[in-house]
Amino acid sequence: MPEEVLGFDVVVVGSGIAGLTMALEIARAGKDVAVVTKKRLEDSSTNWAQGGIAGVLDSSNQAAIERHIDDTISAGAGVCDEELVRDVISEAAVRIRALIEEGVPFERKSDGEYDLAKEGGHQEKRILHVKDRTGEAIETTLIERLKQQNVTILEQWMAIDLVMRKRGQPQNGVRGIWCLDAEGNVHTICCRALVLATGGAGQLWRETTNPTVATGDGVAMAHRAGAGVKHLEFIQFHPTALAIQGKRPFLITEALRGHGAILMTIEGHQIFRKEGGEPENHSYMLEKDPRGSLATRDIVARTTDQMLKKSGEPHALLVTEHLDSKDLKNRFPTIADKLQAHGIQFGPDPIPVTPAAHYIVGGIDVGKNGECITTNGSVYPGLYAIGEVASTGLHGANRLASNSLLEAIVMSHRARNHLLEHIDEYPLELKDAPVWRADGLHRLQEHAPIKADRIALRTIMSDDVGLVRRDERLNRALRKLDHTGEEIERTWRASKPTKGLVELRNMSIVARLVTQAAKKRRNNIGLHYNMDLE
Ligand code: SIN
Repeated sequence: MPEEVLGFDVVVVGSGIAGLTMALEIARAGKDVAVVTKKRLEDSSTNWAQGGIAGVLDSSNQAAIERHIDDTISAGAGVCDEELVRDVISEAAVRIRALIEEGVPFERKSDGEYDLAKEGGHQEKRILHVKDRTGEAIETTLIERLKQQNVTILEQWMAIDLVMRKRGQPQNGVRGIWCLDAEGNVHTICCRALVLATGGAGQLWRETTNPTVATGDGVAMAHRAGAGVKHLEFIQFHPTALAIQGKRPFLITEALRGHGAILMTIEGHQIFRKEGGEPENHSYMLEKDPRGSLATRDIVARTTDQMLKKSGEPHALLVTEHLDSKDLKNRFPTIADKLQAHGIQFGPDPIPVTPAAHYIVGGIDVGKNGECITTNGSVYPGLYAIGEVASTGLHGANRLASNSLLEAIVMSHRARNHLLEHIDEYPLELKDAPVWRADGLHRLQEHAPIKADRIALRTIMSDDVGLVRRDERLNRALRKLDHTGEEIERTWRASKPTKGLVELRNMSIVARLVTQAAKKRRNNIGLHYNMDLE
C-alpha cells in the first residue's frame, strides 16, 4: 500500500481481549474504528491463556465478592489501589456475562452450573474456564464478532510511535500513530482517540510463556511520547513452565495445581514414590507456605528458583500420579497433547517445570477509566491504555492468577464509556498531518546484529534482572543495557524502520525502565525481591 494519511475516530493498537473488546464496543457505538496489529489478529497473549477468568458471577453474593477482593489485595501485598480493586471485582459479573452473551462457551458441569477452577492465592473456586484453552475460546469468539462489524483491520502493521498534537506537549493530546506496513511503508494514521492494548513484554527474558509479539511496544511508545509509567519492577514469573531442554517454555496452567497436582523436588518425588502418604507433605513448598503448591505465584516461583539454585537440580517436578489421568486429559487437553509430544503422560510421568517470565504487572500509568496520565500527572487527552500494557493498580505488587482477563474486560468497558463521553473534545486533524520522513535513511543491509542484540538483551535481563535481584547485578545490567541502547539508537537514526528494529528499540527502552524501577525500589515486596535488602 502506498504511504498515505489515514483517518479514523478511534485506533486500537493490539488484538488481545482488551483491544478486541474495545474495538467491538466502539464500533457498535457507531464510530469508525481501526485495529492495528503487528501479526495476525489472533497472535496475542490472550490466545495463549490457559487458566481462565476470575470472578463471582452471582452479583448478589456480596460475601463471595468480598473474598475475591481480599484475595486480590492480599496477593498485591499492600500495593493495590483498593478502590479500583473493589470496582473491578464488583463489575466482574456483568462483564463476564457480556462475554458469555458474545458466545464464549465457559465450561459447565453436568448440573448446568459453571465449572469453576481454583488457582494459587484464591481461597475458593471462582475461575471460569474453557478446559485449558480459555484464551483461545475468548479470542476466537471476539474476532468472529469483530468481523461482523464495519471495522478496518490492519494486520501485519507495526505501530512505531505516537503522533502528538503538539510535539513535546503530551498535555495537548494524541493525534494519531505512525505504522509500518508489511511492505516497509510508514503510514500516518490520524484519530480522535488512540487506545493502546499492546499486551506485555515477556520477550525481554530468555525463558517466557509469552508469544513473540510480547515486546513491550506500548510501554515504550507511551514513554517516548511523555506518558507516565509505573510499577515496572513487578515482573511476574509463572512457577510452572514446561522445561524440556532446547525447547521453548510452555505454560502449564496453575489450574493443574488447583486440580491437585503437587510440586516436588526430584529427590522428594523419589521419596514420595517409596513411602507414599499425602502428596502435599512431600512438596518443598510446604516448608515455605501453609498453602503449599497453591501459595501465590510470587512465593511459589521464588521458592522454586531458590530450591533449584541450592540443589543444582535442572527443574522441579509437577506430580499428578495420585490423580485420575483420564480426568486430567479431559480437563487439560492442550497440556496433555503437548506432554505427549515429549513422551510424557499425565499420571505416571512427573512433569519437569521451571519458572518463566509471564506477566508485566506495571505499565502505563492510567486513571480509573484507562485514561493515560502524563509524566506531569495530568490526563493525556485522547490516549487510553488497557490490558497488560496498563498499570491500573488492580494487581498491586503481585497479580492474583486469572485476574488479568477480568481486568481487561472491565477496564476496556470503562475506557470505552469515558472515550465516548469525551470523543467530541478530540478533533480529527488530517490536514498537514506529519508524515514519516525516511529521506536519507538507509535500508538495513544486515539483520544479524538486530537478532544478536535481541539475544544479548534477553540474556542480560534473565541473568541480572530476574526473579531474584542484587544491587550489583542491577547496576551491571543497566550499564550493559545503556551501551546496547546507544548502539540501537544509532542504528535506528540511520536506518529505514523494520519490524525487528522497531521491536528491538522498544525492548531496549522497556528493559532499561524495568531495571531502573528495580534499582529504585528499596523494599522487598510482592514480585520484587532484592537479596541486598534481606
Ligand atoms: C495460568 O493458567 O496459570 C495462567 C493464568 C494467569 O496468568 O492468570
